[in-house]
Amino acid sequence: MLRWGAEVRRDLPWRATRDPWRILVSELMLQQTQVARVIPKYEAFLEVFPTVTDCASGSVADVVRLWAGLGYNRRAINLHRCAVQVVERHEGVVPSTLPELLALDGIGPYTARAVMAFAFEDDVAVVDTNVARVLARQTSTTFTAKQVQLLADDLAPVGEGWAWNQSLLDLGAMVCTKRNPSCESCPVASTCSWRGEGPDPATGSAGVSGKQSTFIGSDRQGRGRLVDALRSTPVTEVDLAFVMGWPDDPQRAARVAAGLLVDGLAVLDGPENIPEERVYRLPT
Ligand code: ADE
Repeated sequence: MLRWGAEVRRDLPWRATRDPWRILVSELMLQQTQVARVIPKYEAFLEVFPTVTDCASGSVADVVRLWAGLGYNRRAINLHRCAVQVVERHEGVVPSTLPELLALDGIGPYTARAVMAFAFEDDVAVVDTNVARVLARQTSTTFTAKQVQLLADDLAPVGEGWAWNQSLLDLGAMVCTKRNPSCESCPVASTCSWRGEGPDPATGSAGVSGKQSTFIGSDRQGRGRLVDALRSTPVTEVDLAFVMGWPDDPQRAARVAAGLLVDGLAVLDGPENIPEERVYRLPT
């Protein structure tokens, strides 16, 4: 794995740094978005917010604007909250321990370990959907989340946490892909108990993504349209249904827009009972 990784691993911008803030930004962006789409957004974001303190003192609206094109905008809110917490609790220094990282908004077991491995070069195992799939296939096991993390922890070679995890992520992303894996060019095919024959053991194993839910016509699509509009201008309550693409379903628009308020992605301003004058806008 390490030899293969050293040769084949991609040169990605977040692999040229050990700055925990940059790693954190990259990992939050990469959680549900493809590498190619993340790269330009990552660069642009860090131009504006090169440090955690810059982000914490910036506005939520600016973070949401810089998130355009990445989708799942809640991550932008979480990133800003996280930055504020790092300034308040840790004097602007991203912490390096699992409990401190897990206590921050937006940081779960995956992101916490990614920061530890990729910024601090700790020997923790990073298990994302790609890694979970590789391990399920290697062992032909339907794992629980705990089991797959334990196995990954066990495999990570001492002193090589950074290279090991980056390589394993790339193996999952480039070779041991969800559909049509390239077993013939896999460096660990000899230890794999699946090798592409028969039913895929990764199906239904913990941490392995299932079918992506359909975006077209979903609540998430309307939500995304509203946030897209809010990035450039406030939207009055009466225009919600049009902006969200549901002109005939104002109830649906109102319900989904209310979710945006709950998540902290939008605020509602203006006099009550005058929908023409009430506007949704990004939080400041
Ligand atoms: N996906 C999640 N983390 C990643 C990383 N560090 N490199 C490439 N893809 C990733």
